[in-house]
Amino acid sequence: MGKITPPDILARKKKGPKISTVTAYDYPTGKLADDAGIDVVLVGDSLGMVCLGYPDTVSVTMEEMLHHTKAVSRGVKTALIVADMPFLSYQVGVEEAIRNAGRFLKEGRADAVKLEGGVSQADKAAAIVRAGIPVMGHIGLTPQTATQLGGFKVQGKDTRAALSLMEDAKALCEAGVFSIVIECVPASLSSRITSQIPVPTIGIGAGGGCDGQVLVFHDMTGLFDRFTPKFVKKYCDAGAPIKEALKRYKEEVESGSFPGPEHQF
Ligand code: KIV
Repeated sequence: MGKITPPDILARKKKGPKISTVTAYDYPTGKLADDAGIDVVLVGDSLGMVCLGYPDTVSVTMEEMLHHTKAVSRGVKTALIVADMPFLSYQVGVEEAIRNAGRFLKEGRADAVKLEGGVSQADKAAAIVRAGIPVMGHIGLTPQTATQLGGFKVQGKDTRAALSLMEDAKALCEAGVFSIVIECVPASLSSRITSQIPVPTIGIGAGGGCDGQVLVFHDMTGLFDRFTPKFVKKYCDAGAPIKEALKRYKEEVESGSFPGPEHQF
């Protein structure tokens, strides 16, 4: 199967099937997602929390994102690779936004970038698209500006907020994005947005009416235990057997039963 492209993702809005997206942060997670046939691999800035131990995504830098995007790219052959633009890599101005987005393609070998914000960042999205770089939008709960939103809360709950989210989605479509992540909004609202815009929506905590879904790799595989949002389904609990294996290894090193004769030269 050939490499998945932004037009392929766009076409799924009409043709289906729904778009599977998962985050990845390095060679093995990228390769696992790709080998499983996932459509879109997102090098999310959730990297800051699940891999780098930051309390949130605000501190994540361009250099950190690039370092991890390069590793993911080496492990992915087929899936579309989307790199998340970190906080303040695009908000300051159009030129800086284009330059940083370009670095993800030139240095990171990503296929597209994602940025957070609707109406407020549509000028940056449009400029990046005009520069020839495919852009995925991200609206609803936008973790980089969660403090301004009053915390990690469901967005678009009243009429005014719902209308504003619809405006955000439409502004991004006009900017030329090929898809939009909708995070933490009522299922009825994301279904309405999905039916009113021409590009696929990819939901996280946004119900089943979106054109696709995204989950954080470490959440869905049980590798991150600091907290688990309500919208996460844990498909396995990989953390527990890994911890068990490490304990057994420690015991065997201490007792001298590892390495056995078969592991020696
Ligand atoms: O950084 C990330 O992982 C994301 C997804 C939650 C959409 O932006």
